[in-house]
Amino acid sequence: MLIEWQIASVEDWHADAIIFFVFEKADAPLAGFRRYLEGKGSWLSGSAALKDFQAKPNEMAVCYAPSEEKAIPRVILVGLGPADRFESDKLKNAAAHALRKCRELNVARPAIAMTAFEGLPLESPAALRESLFGAVAGLHKFNELKTRNSEAESAPETLFLLSESEPDNPMAEAVNIAESESGGVMLARDLTVSPSNRATPAFLAETARQLAQKYSFKIEVIDLDSAVSMGMGAFAAVARGSREPAFIIIIEHAPPGTENDPPLVFIGKGITFDSGGISLKSPDKLDAMKQDMAGAASVLGAFEAIGRIGLKRRVVGILPCTENMPDGKAYKPGDVLKSFSGQTIEVISTDAEGRVVLCDAIAYAAAKYSPAAIIDIATLTGACIIALGNQVAAVLGNNEELMDSVKQAGWDLGEKFWPLPLWDFYFEALKSEVADMKNVGDRSAGAIIGGIFLKQFVPREVAWVHLDIAGTAWTDKDSGATPRGATGFGVRTLFEIARRWPESQAWGIIE
Ligand code: BES
Ligand code: MN
Ligand code: ZN
Repeated sequence: MLIEWQIASVEDWHADAIIFFVFEKADAPLAGFRRYLEGKGSWLSGSAALKDFQAKPNEMAVCYAPSEEKAIPRVILVGLGPADRFESDKLKNAAAHALRKCRELNVARPAIAMTAFEGLPLESPAALRESLFGAVAGLHKFNELKTRNSEAESAPETLFLLSESEPDNPMAEAVNIAESESGGVMLARDLTVSPSNRATPAFLAETARQLAQKYSFKIEVIDLDSAVSMGMGAFAAVARGSREPAFIIIIEHAPPGTENDPPLVFIGKGITFDSGGISLKSPDKLDAMKQDMAGAASVLGAFEAIGRIGLKRRVVGILPCTENMPDGKAYKPGDVLKSFSGQTIEVISTDAEGRVVLCDAIAYAAAKYSPAAIIDIATLTGACIIALGNQVAAVLGNNEELMDSVKQAGWDLGEKFWPLPLWDFYFEALKSEVADMKNVGDRSAGAIIGGIFLKQFVPREVAWVHLDIAGTAWTDKDSGATPRGATGFGVRTLFEIARRWPESQAWGIIE
């Protein structure tokens, strides 16, 4: 779907439908819609469809103009719920529902008027960004593996942005941002929903290469032999259990002049299928474990967005990618691994493989880049789902300020993060008789224990946060801008963190 400005006076606007947002139980319509009702849309006041319309969240009314009205024959009203419970999610989801309705009705060229945002408790550029994101992301479907296209519906061709004057910079930029981040989210979703026989580590490497080509990123793909010779004994132990070639993918965006800046480093868990390994999982819903590379997918998605917008900051992505399988060479419970950091790990469960691959990536990032900050993102623990459910991800780390900026950026964009503590006494659970640490404790505080394990690999002076997206990477129900399946959760937050990254380029060290 193309997004196109249409600059003209209201009388000259043309589209197949115009979308307006409405608050529930409001005394009067929002200002922009009210003016439309008083002018060009005066035919609407008698419209029967309006009588039943209550403007509950995502409720819609499609109103058809009398036949003389040729320029804009339909008005689609979509509910935002009550004004006092408004948050940006409501607008994003309302836009998603309106655009899906357009797809259903074969409306080829719908439009949103910039005046439609007047009176919302959100700045217009933010409102435009949310509604465009919702419009595009809500239409997204992964159809690549379907050969019978019986349900093929065509998405609208062009979404017009109606305005009476040229958009100012923040409005023009909002379009750019929304297109960039929705591109990133759709890439992450497509990769995550892809089965493990498609989205292999090699496929992720190829995807990263294509991004590098498109946006002039640097790229390096480390294979298993090189990882072994570099001393990444933890990553290698997991990778050896699979016949599918494993890779550590390193992608770098360093626009001219930033090459020597301390980079922001994103690390994404890239387990393309998690069988549990020798500590084999039960067969129930095992197919869901194709999603265990959602962290790596969000990092690639964030890079798509960063490249597309041409961010002027240095950002590095590190993606340890492998399957976790029970092959003859698979690592086994009781094995002791030597990690890149030099610390040794006693494997208790081969199903706690995420932390085992991430610890080498984290230690490598710290040693190689002197990063401004490290953010890792991973479908790490089932315990995180028990703690926070499917709509909230966990944020853990060693730096309060960085954790707060993740929480805030996520909140602003409808990706919710909530903190869990990482006090050092939690490490008790990981004490080992034979090595520096075990890879799992008992069942208590599982999401925290995953974090405390990773913390052992972060030098004190490096600001670091760990994002556990085990609950949020996937959804079984359609909801607004997030159709069922892979969500692409984390892409927008990573992208936003990179955009808001303080000019000082470092977060204060708290501990
Ligand atoms: N990939 C899983 C975690 C997961 C579970 C992600 C459900 C998405 C949905 C991870 O590798 C895992 O198996 N974790 C174990 C850890 C345990 C062995 C300490 C878990 O959560 O059971
Ligand atoms: Mn596992
Ligand atoms: Zn896993």
